[in-house]
Amino acid sequence: MNQAATKNQLVCSAEDYCVFKQFLSNASGIELGDGKEYLVVSRLNGLLRQHWLTNMKELLAELSAGRNLRLKASVVEAMTTNETFWFRDAPHFRLLTTKIFPEATNQRFRIWSAACSSGQEPYSISMQAHGYRMCNPGRLSDIEIVATDISAGILNEARRGVYSGLSASRGLDDEQRRRYFFTHAEGYEVKPEIKSRVRFQEFNLTRDFASLGRFDVIFCRNVLIYFPPAVKQDIIQRMSKVLRPGGYLFLGSTESMPASSKAFEMVSEQGGIIYRVKK
Ligand SMILES: C[S@@+](CC[C@H](N)C(=O)[O-])C[C@H]1O[C@@H](n2cnc3c(N)ncnc32)[C@H](O)[C@@H]1O
Repeated sequence: MNQAATKNQLVCSAEDYCVFKQFLSNASGIELGDGKEYLVVSRLNGLLRQHWLTNMKELLAELSAGRNLRLKASVVEAMTTNETFWFRDAPHFRLLTTKIFPEATNQRFRIWSAACSSGQEPYSISMQAHGYRMCNPGRLSDIEIVATDISAGILNEARRGVYSGLSASRGLDDEQRRRYFFTHAEGYEVKPEIKSRVRFQEFNLTRDFASLGRFDVIFCRNVLIYFPPAVKQDIIQRMSKVLRPGGYLFLGSTESMPASSKAFEMVSEQGGIIYRVKK
């Protein structure tokens, strides 16, 4: 690697940015807006050095050659935003207990956490199911939570289920920490009975969903905002096909269903909005 590159900040020209935007869109569906060169530079600077690349042109040449799948995955991973916390959008979790779990008729109940980041969302679902089962013996005896994300690195963190004191303070109270976690040298570790309902899997939402099976509920929150309208519309349409009749889709509280999505009806209850697939 040349000396200048170890010292100098990466530069992303308008032309490189254009090519990079196209790469990211093809690889993940993520759409970068105009003028986000600074974001590319700040997210990729360290990564280029790790891969002995000195500038954007070299990176783009490597990516277009398609030989280095690890580099491709690392670049996508670096460009994702993994912000999440426990019981995010609290009304959604209340609706699981007051509406959706009581409606369940199938023995086997399957929930998909479709962009699960470091695990707080699927583990919060598992905690909610645990609480429901304690109060309703014999109900929801066979529940599976499939938690997917495009990023292998973030999924490794999620599978480990160990959180710093700071991240375990975001959305949890003392009672929940005591009930659902062991203390750990690094903070807190999710207990096995909560972990055991969750199966983590690497999965890109722009790919075919057929291999995942059918679901009663899908959480697809705070990820569609990164996609252009056509990709968002396509993902929502395909989700309607893998939901069982009458199944529910959860979007983030600041997200909305595109007007053109006719497969769902809106349900607004107890401060939360969810979408039921039409029968
Ligand atoms: C902001 S987090 C949302 C986490 C959680 N759903 C929540 O609402 O707290 C967005 C997640 O989407 C993932 N992601 C981005 N593009 C994706 C794609 N094409 N397929 C699957 N996951 C993707 C990112 O890796 C990141 O972990």
